[in-house]
Amino acid sequence: MKLLILNGPNINLLGVREPGIYGTVDYAGMVDYVRQECEKMNIRTEFYQSNHEGDLVDAIQGALGRVDGIVINPAAYTHTSIAILDALKAVALPAAEVHISDVTKREPFRQISYAGLACQGHFIGEGLAGYVHAAAFLKEYILKNNSL
Ligand code: DQA
Repeated sequence: MKLLILNGPNINLLGVREPGIYGTVDYAGMVDYVRQECEKMNIRTEFYQSNHEGDLVDAIQGALGRVDGIVINPAAYTHTSIAILDALKAVALPAAEVHISDVTKREPFRQISYAGLACQGHFIGEGLAGYVHAAAFLKEYILKNNSL
């Protein structure tokens, strides 16, 4: 079981960026935490972060045939990117959406999630634990669907 953990723009600035909203743990700390928690669940992880929409599309396309599923926090591209939605639909890998903050209680422009339309699970406002819960969800989802 291997998952791609994909993060969009400004997630590299975790810890520095609006700590009241996104917390004080930096990107490297998040990676360590999520990787360790996934190892406990026998899930291998590959992490990728980019500030560029096309790079995220390339990473999704490149996941096909290499990983079993995708945990994705598209960050601001959540609310704008049909290209990321289309890439997720194109590869048709099991996917789970993560948002560190509770976007449902934030500005109106954060209320639409294009990428979320191609995701089977949604983990919103759980902080960094959302990545771990998304990985656990995908593991169950993949095992269940493979045994059908
Ligand atoms: C975010 C929420 C988005 O609205 C925002 O643009 C981000 C991070 C989150 O993890 O809470 O960059 O995806």
